[in-house]
Amino acid sequence: SELSLIKPGQIHYRYLHLAPDYDQTVGLMKAGATGIAFETVEMTNRSLPLLAPMSEVAGREAIIFGSNILAKHMGGKGILLGGVTGTARAKVVIVGAGIAGQAALKMAIGLEADVTILDVDISKLKYLDDIYGNKINTLYSNAGKLASKIKDADLVISTVLIPGAKCPHLISMDMINSMEAGSVIVDISIDQGGSTPISRPTYHENPTFLTENGVVMYCCANMPGAMPKTSSYALANVTLKYGLAIADLGVDGAINKFPELKPGINVYQGKLVYKHISEAFPNLNFDNLEELMLVAN
Ligand SMILES: NC(=O)c1ccc[n+]([C@@H]2O[C@H](COP(=O)([O-])OP(=O)(O)OC[C@H]3O[C@@H](n4cnc5c(N)ncnc54)[C@H](O)[C@@H]3O)[C@@H](O)[C@H]2O)c1
Repeated sequence: SELSLIKPGQIHYRYLHLAPDYDQTVGLMKAGATGIAFETVEMTNRSLPLLAPMSEVAGREAIIFGSNILAKHMGGKGILLGGVTGTARAKVVIVGAGIAGQAALKMAIGLEADVTILDVDISKLKYLDDIYGNKINTLYSNAGKLASKIKDADLVISTVLIPGAKCPHLISMDMINSMEAGSVIVDISIDQGGSTPISRPTYHENPTFLTENGVVMYCCANMPGAMPKTSSYALANVTLKYGLAIADLGVDGAINKFPELKPGINVYQGKLVYKHISEAFPNLNFDNLEELMLVAN
């Protein structure tokens, strides 16, 4: 319903997550608006400074919420994350060792779970191995390793991201079907479409649903919204300076001052200019941002 509020010429500087959201993409285009997505503002070292604080919140919450859902009365199998003396620790599998994955890892170690983290970026795994040593298991991510780890997992946290693109379904139905009833999957990547074929966005009021074999899926697309005090401060800390620059200098002037804003532009004056989003919607026209900016100026 908010789509009808988008006005011609407006600048939308906020989280957009357009790749899984055709209607919003078309809404911004039709209105001739400019959409700068927090989640694709990118530094030269490839880091995503405006996504990071919310990923940190979501990663930490994933362990708190996931461990709660493992309680029997919440639909879980009733295993305590760290176990107690003489019992097994819960097996936590974290897919993706970026900001959210590392935040989840830190919490899982704090609660003394048996934790494995997978990524395709060896440098991130090496960094974590150096820091945490034999407190964790690091694994290079591929379908085989994911299948074997997910089968035995009590809690799976998925944090995979291909910036701007729809999330790949790395966790297949076969993998989900191999899990024990009462195991939990927290799909943090749901805001980019989700990491499993059955992920669908849920809300804090009713955050979980069950698969046919009794696995509990948690797919809240706005996890930071559960902790608005922390999240609002954390977000304002990083977004304010760019917001002020856009207000003072306009989009083009702000980009001159802060070049990292440029990859943040998903839609420029109604034209779709972000490659990964155009790949998700091949029927929409893709334009070159550089050329459009030259013409506009
Ligand atoms: N649900 C929510 O409320 C919420 C909140 C914040 C962030 N998020 C989402 O969480 C996701 C993660 O964000 P982030 O900031 O941690 O991203 P990030 O880029 O820091 O980390 C993503 C990681 O996924 C890894 N990856 C890519 N392909 C992989 C594969 N095949 N196997 C294993 N790992 C792979 C990357 O190498 C990277 O380390 C994003 O989709 C983001 O939008 C969701």
